[in-house]
Amino acid sequence: MTEAAVLGFGTVGSGVVEVIDRNQAAIRVQFPEGIHVKYILDLRSFPDSPYADKVVHDINVIREDPEIRIVCETMGGMEPAFSFTKSFLEKGVSVCTSNKELVAAHGPELIALAKANRCSYLFEASVGGGIPLLRTIESSLVQERITAVYGILNGTTNYILTKMAREGADFDATLKEAQDKGYAERNPESDIEGHDTARKIAILTSLVSGSTFRYEDVYCEGITKITAADFKYAKTLGMSVKLLGVSRRDPETLEFHVLTAPFLVSCEHPLYSVNDVFNGVFIHGNMVDDLMLYGRGAGKYPTASAVVSDVIDCASHDGRWITRRWDPEVIEPGDRLSEVRRFFVRTDADSEEAARKAFPGLTVVTADGMEGEFAFVTDRVTEGEFEGKAAGLKLRNRIRFLN
Ligand SMILES: NC(=O)c1ccc[n+]([C@@H]2O[C@H](COP(=O)([O-])OP(=O)(O)OC[C@H]3O[C@@H](n4cnc5c(N)ncnc54)[C@H](OP(=O)(O)O)[C@@H]3O)[C@@H](O)[C@H]2O)c1
Repeated sequence: MTEAAVLGFGTVGSGVVEVIDRNQAAIRVQFPEGIHVKYILDLRSFPDSPYADKVVHDINVIREDPEIRIVCETMGGMEPAFSFTKSFLEKGVSVCTSNKELVAAHGPELIALAKANRCSYLFEASVGGGIPLLRTIESSLVQERITAVYGILNGTTNYILTKMAREGADFDATLKEAQDKGYAERNPESDIEGHDTARKIAILTSLVSGSTFRYEDVYCEGITKITAADFKYAKTLGMSVKLLGVSRRDPETLEFHVLTAPFLVSCEHPLYSVNDVFNGVFIHGNMVDDLMLYGRGAGKYPTASAVVSDVIDCASHDGRWITRRWDPEVIEPGDRLSEVRRFFVRTDADSEEAARKAFPGLTVVTADGMEGEFAFVTDRVTEGEFEGKAAGLKLRNRIRFLN
């Protein structure tokens, strides 16, 4: 038996303990010795849990037990998760985590520390929850030159946008309902402002590039300015609004252009059908062409399943470092203002003349009940050109087109 410990017995951590327990037979097919959870660290005790006897409150109990070979960090946040993780890697104990905040901030440093100590730092669950996304990029697509990765990476915002699209409701009311149902946190800022998606697309860009794309360098817009009116127009265009993380490699400069923002997605694009709390990620490789992964981006069992996939990987490679192509060298972001795309734009009615002058190739868009404003789609322009020309208009909103 390989002995493991789980740090944080919350949603994901309790799922990890259950998945290892309930799926032990499946785990033994890949790793016949089996995996056993010896300790659970948490601030609270869980007297009613069948795993109550494993709960400890002192990290040193786990640190000082030489039998522990793998630790699952499912506490979340920066500290003490960062210090705990370092202390285990320094001892040659592998760490598997769902903590995207820590991975986005210190991923390369922790991978290097694991390598120096002949153990592994794995984080499949940190992006796309239960979707086997990172392993696909790192193993199945290792031979590819990946030129684009983009998709829906946050279930909370996708749930809100799906409700707005279906019911014509406004953002604030939909957010409140999502909070009441437990789909959105009481403090939803990280989700609705796009920061969670930005962290995930930064992690994906780093793995695709093999270097570090800092999440602070991701241009980031959230969904708080999206209204029921935007969805009315989207419907007449045969489109929907989705919050996307987008990472594209310029074929000439080889720079990565990375942003998080709401996009209009055509009903012909597979991401259009990724609804509710589901995630969907599109990858374009130079040989494999397009592929898409779809699944639950969060939730107790899907996320725990991804953590346990890492646990099995670590158990099968005990004493060895599992390669993660993510060096500390920081890559500079490509110039966002040079990106070419179309924009959907809503302005006050009295901006029509100025809009027609600024964007002579525009296409007018109308929607029921939307009198008193002027809406249009631009020709393909750079972000820089758009910002310059739109500065003279009384803008109500503008949303990027995907492709
Ligand atoms: N939930 C999901 O679906 C999901 C999906 C993907 C990734 N993640 C990520 O996975 C991580 C965990 O998320 P979660 O939803 O499972 O969070 P959670 O339900 O809040 O669980 C965290 C657990 O860790 C415990 N904890 C916090 N600080 C601790 C400390 N210093 N010592 C011991 N225990 C401590 C907490 O105890 P208290 O409750 O007493 O504070 C809680 O039981 C986060 O990084 C999150 O972003 C979550």
